[in-house]
Amino acid sequence: MPMVGVFGPEDFSHRDRGGATRPASREARALPTPELEWTPEIERETAHLYDRVKAVIPPVEWPLMAPYVSAINKLKKERNAVILAHNYQTPEIFNCVADIVGDSLQLAREATKVDADVIVQCGVHFMAETSKILNPKKTVLIPDSRAGCSLAASITGEDVRLLRERFPGVPVVAYVNTSADVKAEVDICCTSSNAVEVVESLGVDTVIFVPDQYLAKYVASQTKVRIIAWKGACEVHERFTGAELKMYRDADPSVQIIAHPECPPDVIAEADFTGSTAHMINWVRKNHPKRVVMVTECSMADNVQAELPDVEFVRPCNLCPHMKRITLPKILDSLVNMREEITIDPMIMDKARRSVERMIHLKS
Ligand code: 13P
Ligand code: SF4
Repeated sequence: MPMVGVFGPEDFSHRDRGGATRPASREARALPTPELEWTPEIERETAHLYDRVKAVIPPVEWPLMAPYVSAINKLKKERNAVILAHNYQTPEIFNCVADIVGDSLQLAREATKVDADVIVQCGVHFMAETSKILNPKKTVLIPDSRAGCSLAASITGEDVRLLRERFPGVPVVAYVNTSADVKAEVDICCTSSNAVEVVESLGVDTVIFVPDQYLAKYVASQTKVRIIAWKGACEVHERFTGAELKMYRDADPSVQIIAHPECPPDVIAEADFTGSTAHMINWVRKNHPKRVVMVTECSMADNVQAELPDVEFVRPCNLCPHMKRITLPKILDSLVNMREEITIDPMIMDKARRSVERMIHLKS
């Protein structure tokens, strides 16, 4: 079904656009900063972890990382903390300090089950907010609260209220890449794993889908439900083009191309498979291609390469500058100083929880 309209802030008289991050709120309860020396003991203690990443991290870099890895893993125990890391985190975070890894949907589901006192979210701000919304009694920390997202920054709660005024009675689906303010105003959330299923679950002929215009287009191509979209875009995925992918295919017709649905339609048209980051990883595990172009953020290919060293990854990849704000030194600082803590207005949090839980509890 073609999309029936794409709206943006310029279609409404507009006020403050708000930011994607918030400052930390809690007083630091600091522990001493651990020693960060490369010693034979650290080398021995972290050897099994280096084994996991040796295909993608050169030996000369490991002595700089290992003392942080060791200190973070010890501090997690001391703080009774777990690290939730998105698939776009760098290999040393994803493989050596994370307790739970996944796409946005998997991380949201796992956040509801966390029993530890502290969640350190290695991802972007909306992911940390989602963990707090779903498990509000926990202390949720993000190692750098400036880790935003161009999609989350493209829309405010007020924009959603104005869309509802323009299209009375039409339900609103929000991609989880949105702030808590936006989640509080919508009927249900979705991720790239379940967007089509969520849209169809509403049992209506038209929905408003915010904020990713390209994910909206992808959903519209998969369903009969009419989609009214917002003009947001992911600054990482919108840079890929169908023409560059065609060049890779022309150079090697056997190459497999797999793309994230935040990519523009000409990119999706060139892809052999489209899916969320977790679906893309599973596709590579299952199909074990000889050469694959993973059309998404760069670190994901590194993480899958670490697991499957015999698959060749052809890389037109783009870095997400927000995801890359999370580093080992900042994770250590987060655990030492208990910062930066996610805080959300309780009324907004309760309203946002309804739309996130409605998605989580959807029966597939
Ligand atoms: P996934 O839910 O597919 O992991 O996507 C999150 C994201 O931010 C992609 O850019
Ligand atoms: Fe946001 Fe795009 Fe970065 Fe994902 S890759 S966090 S959608 S800016």
